[in-house]
Amino acid sequence: MKDILQQLEDRRAAARQGGGAHRIEAQHAKGKLSARERVELLLDEGSFEEYDMFVTHRCTDFDMQQNKPAGDGVVVGWGTVNGRQVYVFSQDFTVLGGSVSATHAMKICKIMDMAMQNGAPVIGINDSGGARIQEGVDSLAGYGEVFQRNIMASGVVPQISLIMGPCAGGAVYSPAMTDFIFMVKDSSYMFVTGPDVVKTVTNEVVTAEELGGASTHTRKSSVADGAFENDVEALAEVRRLIDFLPLNNREKPPVRPFFDDPARIEESLDTLVPANANTPYDMKELIEKIADEGDFYEIQAEYAKNIITGFIRLEGRTVGVVANQPMVLAGVLDIDSARKAARFVRFCDAFEIPILTLVDVPGFLPGTKQEYDGVIKHGAKLLFAYGEATVPKVTVITRKAYGGAYVVMASKHLRADVNYAWPTSEVAVMGAKGATEILYRSELGDAEKIAKRTKDYEDAFANPFVAAERGFIDEVIQPRSTRKRVARAFAMLRNKQQSMPWKKHDNIPL
Ligand code: HXC
Repeated sequence: MKDILQQLEDRRAAARQGGGAHRIEAQHAKGKLSARERVELLLDEGSFEEYDMFVTHRCTDFDMQQNKPAGDGVVVGWGTVNGRQVYVFSQDFTVLGGSVSATHAMKICKIMDMAMQNGAPVIGINDSGGARIQEGVDSLAGYGEVFQRNIMASGVVPQISLIMGPCAGGAVYSPAMTDFIFMVKDSSYMFVTGPDVVKTVTNEVVTAEELGGASTHTRKSSVADGAFENDVEALAEVRRLIDFLPLNNREKPPVRPFFDDPARIEESLDTLVPANANTPYDMKELIEKIADEGDFYEIQAEYAKNIITGFIRLEGRTVGVVANQPMVLAGVLDIDSARKAARFVRFCDAFEIPILTLVDVPGFLPGTKQEYDGVIKHGAKLLFAYGEATVPKVTVITRKAYGGAYVVMASKHLRADVNYAWPTSEVAVMGAKGATEILYRSELGDAEKIAKRTKDYEDAFANPFVAAERGFIDEVIQPRSTRKRVARAFAMLRNKQQSMPWKKHDNIPL
């Protein structure tokens, strides 16, 4: 009997070795943790329950029956993050480069199915050379099974991808369908085809880092939502994110203990908006002053910085924030910012996270570049996302809310529940200068007359009261009391029920 128990421990110990000590050392030498070390850091200590440790591949081509490592290159199971259940798979690069065989894929599918059934997030740690070349179409089929589950799980349980090594070919398309992708600087890459193939096909010479490194995907392509210095930081930040999220779409977001007075008055906000309408100010200051304990988890911080997206808590409850950033391009809406914010709004709506929108927007960015690239279609994404969202929506206009962008940014007309404006706000079709130049074109030669016309327009329209008189703004509030007003509004909306007409699904302009 004792022997049998010992045999089990020996088999477990061998499986835990993955590709062996020297390959784990090589992994460490690249600044990367092993698949199991990553799982240990991600989950609460001692909470990991591993499954399928003894699964091996069934391939006999290329003499593969001689090389059948236990676990087949991926560690899967479940555990907890601050006491809350999550499912995890972690690819082991030390075993056949973490490549995906039919059985490797089957292991991932098993825990994805369990996550769906039990209503808990899936966190995928990706470190893989892609489809296992020796397995051919069986490997592709395995990927296909994973993809289908990504699609089924979308909007049901949160799916988070950590990219912690190379991620090529099919390996990028599973993460691409998850809710958030985080990369590690200098050790992770994502591309459909690597630099060698690129050179052969297009003659472009490009490094892996330039083609698909963290900087490329967080700044240029927007494929990734964030990048971290190393594995340890990335895993700690995913734990922090999980704390903001509900476990599934039937649950409300978690309520955390909070130590910040919801009625806290912030007098400094009374002077946040500068006297000159063209002088920028940092919208992040407002977000941090509204948030419980100033805690803000930003998503896509390096991309389309003219709009800010991320999570805060109010009275311990998660709120998604979308805010124009006057510091970048005057906070204008353009293709990138509309796409970024639309995806975030849809995530919040899918997972019952209320949305706070902070508005200071001079309009949509004009020009041929934007038009040729489809600003009409991409701008409509944000409009559509706000209009279809049924979660509680509270909006605060701090300064400009001009034209179409006024409507887009969670206006009353898109079923926002509570719309506040600061006294400094200007809700109008456009700024005073632009409006005067159009309305009084014939007087443009007379500077004095134009100055008077501009002043008259400002007095009549560059304020929140025209909109407030119509009920489009529910209340003009003191900047200092914003946290209190917003927190009370979301508290009032806690039992909000709103629905859409029956449909198979909508047809958001993609
Ligand atoms: C089988 C693989 C493998 C793969 C790596 N290995 N990728 N084995 N199938 N796809 C093995 C290597 O043979 C090697 O084994 C070990 O893993 C480590 O790989 P190295 O090349 O030594 O490591 P490194 O130099 O760090 O390079 C990593 C890499 C490179 C950039 C990932 O291995 C690479 O380019 N691999 C192929 C990538 C690729 O083209 N994949 C197929 C994509 S097509 P030994 O025993 O020597 O240590 C695809 C289609 C899916 O994914 C479509 C779904 C719809």
